Amino acid sequence: MKGIILAGGKGTRLYPLTISLSKQLLPVYDKPMIYYPLTMLMLAGIREMLIISTSEALPQFQNLIEDGGKWGLKIEYAAQPEPRGLADAFLVKPQFYLGSPVCLILGDNIFFGHGLSTQLQKAAQLQQGALIFAYAVKDPHRYGVVQFDSLGKALSIEEKPRKPRSTYAVPGMYFYDQQVYDLASQLQPSGRGELEITDLNRLYLQKGQLHVEVLGRGVAWLDAGTHESLLQAANFVQTVEERQGMMIACPEEIAYRMDYIDAAQLRSLAEKVNNSYGEYLLRILEEEK
Ligand code: DAU
Repeated sequence: MKGIILAGGKGTRLYPLTISLSKQLLPVYDKPMIYYPLTMLMLAGIREMLIISTSEALPQFQNLIEDGGKWGLKIEYAAQPEPRGLADAFLVKPQFYLGSPVCLILGDNIFFGHGLSTQLQKAAQLQQGALIFAYAVKDPHRYGVVQFDSLGKALSIEEKPRKPRSTYAVPGMYFYDQQVYDLASQLQPSGRGELEITDLNRLYLQKGQLHVEVLGRGVAWLDAGTHESLLQAANFVQTVEERQGMMIACPEEIAYRMDYIDAAQLRSLAEKVNNSYGEYLLRILEEEK
């Protein structure tokens, strides 16, 4: 399974924060926003990733993450010249994933919760069809919305419906089989001029190949796309990290715990960061894995 992180767009809802800095590089408490989706892919066991952003922002991401080797990953980059929609992520550099199943995650989606790694690792075994998630929210009209029948099978999926048929929003993390390139190529731009991920998911639904898993109430799903939600996400991360003394979405830690890097590599990463972040990494080395 390969992974795509979509981290482009204009971020206009966060102006003036995002006039000269990409949204997905803004801090969410103690680390850049993109660390959160990137570590989700790492936890799923995905080590080959493509980061898509605007051509202006790509050098900023490359400066931060490089080729991923420091975290035991292989990371490529590609520019999306215009924000043509989420499903466009499959058309920007298809040679990156063609012939392999692929997971798409949005660069501004943050997940945290019990049992998530196991759920992700299972999802990353997908060979056929599509697997997406559903999460109960108060304001479903802001998202893709999925409706279930009494047996829990997906019945319909709609993008930002004025009258949502359920309270289940579809978070920005999607797993697809090899058909995704052909199906994404068939899509036509929606009313807002975008290739909609919801239209792609509907194609899988029509084929009877869309699996929807509910993320339970033990999982937090946050998006950090507005001033309010960005602050809420930062407060959330700070609260949990302070209480537990453990970091959320720390790529160095996850790389070590997943055996993507060894103790010597972690030590050398830790020694480059002369603050509490670096101290945290050194502390991990002293503990049992
Ligand atoms: O967050 C989950 C929701 O994401 C889903 O429930 C919706 O079905 C899905 O359409 C999407 O809705 P949004 O309206 O939140 O998507 P937005 O246009 O804000 O794009 C999400 C992120 O992807 C954003 O950080 C910018 C980036 N992006 C977006 C587009 C359209 C790109 O990098 N390229 C693009 O072409």
